[in-house]
Amino acid sequence: MPGTRKVAVVTGAAQGFGRTISVGLAQAGIDVVAVDLAEAKETVAEVERAGAHGASLVADVSDPASTNVLARLLSDEFGRCDILVNNAGIYPNVPFDEVDFELWRRVHSINLDSQFLMVKAVLPLMKQGHWGRIINITSNSIGMVIPGLAHYMASKAGVIGFTPGLANDVAEYGITVNAVGPTASKTPGGLTNIEQEHIEALAQSQAIKRAGTADDIVGTVLFLASESSAWVTGQTIMADGGLIRL
Ligand SMILES: NC(=O)c1ccc[n+]([C@@H]2O[C@H](COP(=O)([O-])OP(=O)(O)OC[C@H]3O[C@@H](n4cnc5c(N)ncnc54)[C@H](O)[C@@H]3O)[C@@H](O)[C@H]2O)c1
Repeated sequence: MPGTRKVAVVTGAAQGFGRTISVGLAQAGIDVVAVDLAEAKETVAEVERAGAHGASLVADVSDPASTNVLARLLSDEFGRCDILVNNAGIYPNVPFDEVDFELWRRVHSINLDSQFLMVKAVLPLMKQGHWGRIINITSNSIGMVIPGLAHYMASKAGVIGFTPGLANDVAEYGITVNAVGPTASKTPGGLTNIEQEHIEALAQSQAIKRAGTADDIVGTVLFLASESSAWVTGQTIMADGGLIRL
């Protein structure tokens, strides 16, 4: 018997954007399944401190086997899934000459294939509930001049294409699908992959001239996860301090 509280799956939830999004959802009264390669203990603790139920699933989102594992956990423990935030991603900065096919495939597999696999895991329950919110994390880098990211930008452009395509196919079930594009930000991954100086320099090209942090996309994700966003689907919103604009 499904509970009455909404349930969200957040991938890459052990740190960075995934963690702040999980806590934001919990503060909005939503239970969270935190999926990550690492056990998301601190995220689950923060989710529970916010008064929601948290569960950690250690899984590789690019592994097709994770689809069944997640689907089983959701139906056995929660009986529902209302929100999916496809956030897990990697962004190794590597000059194109050094990008071999293995790295190209790994980046696509974690950044794009995983979104397909996670959607497959949650869709049956979302359809049953006649309501759903799928939020895919992309990147504003596809509109910028940053060397060493061709493999990454190709995968994130795939996310921007997948989003309206999927939105067309699931609208009849009351499910919306949107993408959010952050800018270079001071998350643990950001601080490892991008020079801090570069993050600060980039901020000077934004309308809002400060570096992004892990908290900066939470509000946009919460809006897209809410009832209020029902008329918005297939869109990509750059939540990036006003760097890339229509
Ligand atoms: N921080 C930035 O500057 C920035 C800018 C634009 C877009 N993004 C996007 O935001 C998302 C999150 O980035 P972040 O900065 O928080 O990264 P991060 O490296 O700080 O955290 C990413 C999390 O994803 C997990 N993860 C990685 N591969 C996984 C896999 N195969 N299966 C399950 N979990 C996996 C990691 O263990 C980690 O906990 C990514 O999709 C990234 O591309 C980040």
